Amino acid sequence: MFKQAIISELKKHVKGEISLEVPPDHKLGDFAFPCFTLAKEFKKSPVQIAQELAGKIKVQGVRVSATGPYVNFFLDTAGVAKSLMLDILTQKKRFASSRDGEGRIVGIDFSSPNIGKPLHFGNLRTTMLGNSIARLHEFAGFNVLRLNYLGDWGTQFGTLIHAYLTWGDKKRFKEHPVEHLVELYVRFNKEAENSAELKEKAREWFAKLEKGDAMALKLWSKFKHLCLDELRGVYKTLGITFDSFNGEAFYAPKVEAALERVQAKGLAVVDDGALIIRMQGSEMPMMLRKRDGSTTYASRDVATVLDRIETLKCNKLVYVVGHEQSQHFQHLFALMKLLGYDKEFVHVSYGLYLSQDGSKMSTRKGTGISMEGVLNEAIALAKKTIEEKNPGLKDKEKIACDVAIGAIFFGDMMNDRSKDIVFDLDRFVSFEGDTGPYLMYTHARAASIVRKGKEQKVSPKKAAKFEVLKHPAEDRVIKLLSAFPQKVKEALAVHKPHVLAQYLLEVGHAFNEFYHSCPCLQEENKDLKVARLTLIEASRQILENGLRLLGITAPFEM
Ligand code: ARG
Repeated sequence: MFKQAIISELKKHVKGEISLEVPPDHKLGDFAFPCFTLAKEFKKSPVQIAQELAGKIKVQGVRVSATGPYVNFFLDTAGVAKSLMLDILTQKKRFASSRDGEGRIVGIDFSSPNIGKPLHFGNLRTTMLGNSIARLHEFAGFNVLRLNYLGDWGTQFGTLIHAYLTWGDKKRFKEHPVEHLVELYVRFNKEAENSAELKEKAREWFAKLEKGDAMALKLWSKFKHLCLDELRGVYKTLGITFDSFNGEAFYAPKVEAALERVQAKGLAVVDDGALIIRMQGSEMPMMLRKRDGSTTYASRDVATVLDRIETLKCNKLVYVVGHEQSQHFQHLFALMKLLGYDKEFVHVSYGLYLSQDGSKMSTRKGTGISMEGVLNEAIALAKKTIEEKNPGLKDKEKIACDVAIGAIFFGDMMNDRSKDIVFDLDRFVSFEGDTGPYLMYTHARAASIVRKGKEQKVSPKKAAKFEVLKHPAEDRVIKLLSAFPQKVKEALAVHKPHVLAQYLLEVGHAFNEFYHSCPCLQEENKDLKVARLTLIEASRQILENGLRLLGITAPFEM
């Protein structure tokens, strides 16, 4: 918040974009503004310009001076603390929220698994990232639509129908429907490696499904509903909700009308019986209708995006999908521009999960791990640690579940989403090191000090005497907390939750350092005690808000 105030003040004197640097040495201030590039405009030396600017700039709670060609800004810790603590303690859960997105509707397409196979663990990335990105938008005042575009249509259902009719075991299917479908799916893919005929059969069944064949539809509907039931259970555990589950099957009947509009603009051509668009700068065309008349993944997305713009009235559309689909989204967005829709389209892409040996995880070969399996394993690990650390804890089941989810979410989202990451559950679940449980534990520790304070009849106070906080560890925590609103904005601007996650780790480290160097409850000086307790409560609130934006519930006890 101070950064923003300094920038607006500088803007009164300097033209163009203003960016502040963080000096490598704390003695040079909390921020610095380099004046090199201004020499031409002001016709003076950068050193002179820095001197003059330092004399003109006035921001409440900030000391300004010049060193060489830099203007240096020193935040006055007590001044910062005063307004910051007031804001945090007043706004609480809403602290750092904004109205930047007010009046705008954003559709966020995430999770969107291909059903008819188990939620592959890789599906978890889009689910967590999308959930966090949705929360970031909401926090910034957008009207958010969470869209789960189920992959419930397409050749994979032809595959399942054929496999079920050929090898299906009715009894096993009744007992373990989804598991049996996976077995069939894996078997089909194995056998189809050497059989063009088998692949053709799957295509035929899908074509029948699209034409409304009764048998095909009956099986499809049965498979879909069983998978969906299981999925809903997983989302419930993860605490993730959706506004719509309208997926590919829902939009398939709308494809023809959409393609007519594309054709009316003369954008598509018929090539060897198929309808395609040749996109500038791209070798692969966009395939809109197959030779046998079937709709395609691309065409269904065209129908969907039109509906999202026209019916749902989205101003911004975010697609959280792996980077292997980059070209598909480039095509889709380019086509929308050609059709005259100038909306904000974002493909939030991400890398793969790798196994510990560095290879890709895959359901097709049966090497993937199911999402439920991983969740259960994480919950078991979390329970074990809680049992060791705090066997008397109330509500152990619920907390173990929150910790497990926090571990997985944080373990993933602390990494830049564009990179591939190695999935290492033992590390994710650990209470030590840079992990979700470490931050959750830090939060619980802060909460427990505040509780104990209450027992001693001291409480955090908005107007505490913050000038008594003089320790460098206190200074660091105060300044870090003041950066929270800026970090939330940054994470949203680049659609990257790791910006926030990395910041929270800094807060966690700084808090623990402060906790060890500056005892609170044993402090005899009442003013210092209250000021520290207030800083502890404010840190707790920032951890709570930050973790919540990542989809993680921070326990008050663990
Ligand atoms: N079902 C697709 C998959 O798992 C992802 C769908 C993404 N969303 C979209 N509108 N294409 O690969």
